[in-house]
Amino acid sequence: MSEQVYFFDTTLRDGEQCPGASMNFRQKLEVARQLERLGIDIIEAGFPCISDGDFEAVKAIATEIKNCRIAGLARCMNNDIEAAARSLEPAGDRARIHVFLATSPLHREYKLKKTKDEILAMAAEGVAFAKSFVNDVEFSAEDATRTELPYLAQVVETVIRAGATTVNIPDTVGYTTPNEFYKTIRYLKENVPNIDEAIIAVHCHNDLGLATANSLFAVLAGARQVEGTINGIGERAGNVALEEVCMALMTRKGEFGDVTCGLTMREIVRTSRIVARMSGLQVQRSKAIVGENAFAHSSGIHQHGILNKRETYEIIDPQEIGWGETELPLTKHSGRAAVQAKLKQLGHVLSDEEMQVVFERFKKVGDSKKFIYDDDLSAIVDTSLHESLGLWQLDFIQFVAGSHAKPTATVGLVKEGRKYVDSAIGNGAVDAAFKAIERITKCRGKLIDYSVNAASEGKDALGEVTVHVDFGNGKPLAGKGASTDVIEGSARAFLNALNRSIHLSNNPEVRYLSCEESAGI
Ligand code: KIV
Ligand code: ZN
Repeated sequence: MSEQVYFFDTTLRDGEQCPGASMNFRQKLEVARQLERLGIDIIEAGFPCISDGDFEAVKAIATEIKNCRIAGLARCMNNDIEAAARSLEPAGDRARIHVFLATSPLHREYKLKKTKDEILAMAAEGVAFAKSFVNDVEFSAEDATRTELPYLAQVVETVIRAGATTVNIPDTVGYTTPNEFYKTIRYLKENVPNIDEAIIAVHCHNDLGLATANSLFAVLAGARQVEGTINGIGERAGNVALEEVCMALMTRKGEFGDVTCGLTMREIVRTSRIVARMSGLQVQRSKAIVGENAFAHSSGIHQHGILNKRETYEIIDPQEIGWGETELPLTKHSGRAAVQAKLKQLGHVLSDEEMQVVFERFKKVGDSKKFIYDDDLSAIVDTSLHESLGLWQLDFIQFVAGSHAKPTATVGLVKEGRKYVDSAIGNGAVDAAFKAIERITKCRGKLIDYSVNAASEGKDALGEVTVHVDFGNGKPLAGKGASTDVIEGSARAFLNALNRSIHLSNNPEVRYLSCEESAGI
């Protein structure tokens, strides 16, 4: 009988560590709901001790999500473990505490300044302490692939004895190779006497572009849990993309052992889109499985072959993973009930107040766009709820641009019921709009990244703008805005990042003033 490979998703923890990817509470919940629909076995919801925000998000996910195990990360420290245990309480016996400690010589000497024996003792104590709260404890030997194999085996044996039910072998810096990783997993299977009492997990980073191959070779060697993220987001070059591992296992059945995976494949594309939208990290067009071009055939020979028999140039049926599902679009005539039903179908759970905000924006967008597709609606939800939390709201925008005109924007903003208007000239209409916003808010931001995506098809598609802006607090913040007009969408995105920067501070006024100071205007 086939053995199951468990899918452990860390989009909300390791994925979230990606620069510019930070998601707010609502976005994390939306991602978690979609991961549940995808059939993920274990959702790592966050690192509860790291901030109140992470703690609350893990708690909310542990409360709401019923069909997945929920994990919270903790260092081998009592405070961390206690925070994880408290945040995971609502998940009951589906709670998993994930404890990690580095084991490689580099980390032992330069980061932890601990001997091998001290690490062994800390690992055992951490696992035993976690075990006093929950049955399901995972231990990760950080930087395992640069750890001496006999010592790694000793660590694994020790933590299993202390109660770990899953032992993770992370390739923390994406250094290993498929052949080497296969041997590492085999070595552990053959040299750790109690190895059968735990599941072996792997957690591959993609620094050499080998994360998928490494994870698959680990499965071939006997690993039965694969950890990764959707779209491969994560630190540096990212984590392994779970959709790639799943589709490799399913498309090449038997090639990596007699294994199966329980993901609902037709949810893959939708999950990818939701994660891209929520994290603000667009998927590369040619990305395997979920990239816009993954099933696009432009050469005549390929098109001809596909028309005769799809399999000539396609190894996966795109419909099986959720590409090209036909949808009935909404229009401005659609009523609240129709919009509400569609939102539910798309997995958006909104309060009455949020529904009101979304519906008003839906009607406005409907005036300038004939059909509102699923992706348009998701873009409306994401951007309008973002905006409604902001201190500064966009009232209106006007601009003059063209080959013979100086690009000029006039922007009207509202803050706490008061209206502000100013104009600026820029290098282009978008730049002029940003400058006008800076003049009004007295917050100067350095634009680090800017991208526009059509949320759906057609010339009147909503333009979804994503910006990353540094407002002088060292961390570029993502902002998003959507409109059928790209300049307006850009202004909304810039304002959204600015509002997030203000909200980051516990005291909005302090953040506002410090912005003003850093702007020097
Ligand atoms: O990459 C890594 O080693 C990690 C651990 C915390 C599992 O993310
Ligand atoms: Zn990692």
